[in-house]
Amino acid sequence: MREITKGWQDFWAEFFRIKYQHLDEPAIEKEVVSHIIHTLSLRKGNRILDLACGEGSKTLELACRGMNVVGVDIAKVLVDYGNKAAQKENLPVKLIKGDMRDARFNDEFDTCTVISSFGLFDDSGNLKVLQAVEKALKHGGKFYIDLLNPFTRIKEREERWEEVENGYLLMKYNHNLVTGKMRITSLYITKEGNLIKSKHDELVRLYTLPEMIKLIETAKLVFKGAYGSFSIPLEEYSVTSDSMIIVGEKP
Ligand SMILES: C[S@@+](CC[C@H](N)C(=O)[O-])C[C@H]1O[C@@H](n2cnc3c(N)ncnc32)[C@H](O)[C@@H]1O
Repeated sequence: MREITKGWQDFWAEFFRIKYQHLDEPAIEKEVVSHIIHTLSLRKGNRILDLACGEGSKTLELACRGMNVVGVDIAKVLVDYGNKAAQKENLPVKLIKGDMRDARFNDEFDTCTVISSFGLFDDSGNLKVLQAVEKALKHGGKFYIDLLNPFTRIKEREERWEEVENGYLLMKYNHNLVTGKMRITSLYITKEGNLIKSKHDELVRLYTLPEMIKLIETAKLVFKGAYGSFSIPLEEYSVTSDSMIIVGEKP
């Protein structure tokens, strides 16, 4: 067996987000975006900032529903991929390569979204993300952050195998109860028998709702509510929910 170690951009961005993710049903994008529009009562023409937008699957779907969207992501390969897809569809989307902690927009957006991307740093880095949200929003602007529910994720099965294009993906989850961080290790084994792994594991801080509310208030934002899934009618957040989706606003 040949062992190939790839850097973060090649493994996570190129393989995981573009090749692997796109085998998924696009229905999840539509469900997430319908939930964002419904919970925040968005209207056509609203300006949205999508932080850590990835290859822009939700960003482009927001644009398809009439929003003007700017996305920011650290991975150039994803930003380039998303911009090309938006151009092809003639959508009002601009994806920019950058660090979401340093996003420097001022009172420009009606809404800011952080989807499946909160908790990637230590507490001060995660606070910086919320401060960037606060800076970017207009007064009265709303934010939407979709996080994993720590109560259900802590019980996540420790290993999961999935068949993907031309191989198998193994995802291992490890929870550190002292730091509150979940470590996700992924290995891709091709049908030819090559083992492809990432040089770096993914680490996500699983915040509880009171911890998030404290961080939100420290960033001078106001917490308005929490939901447990992307379903409509809305489902309140609970200990058994799949997700912890937090909405709020800039006063
Ligand atoms: C789980 S993906 C979610 C992507 C997208 N929001 C979605 O829901 O499809 C996490 C994203 O965070 C991005 N990311 C990681 N660190 C970042 C940073 N410091 N600034 C901006 N984006 C970052 C990654 O490149 C990746 O696209």
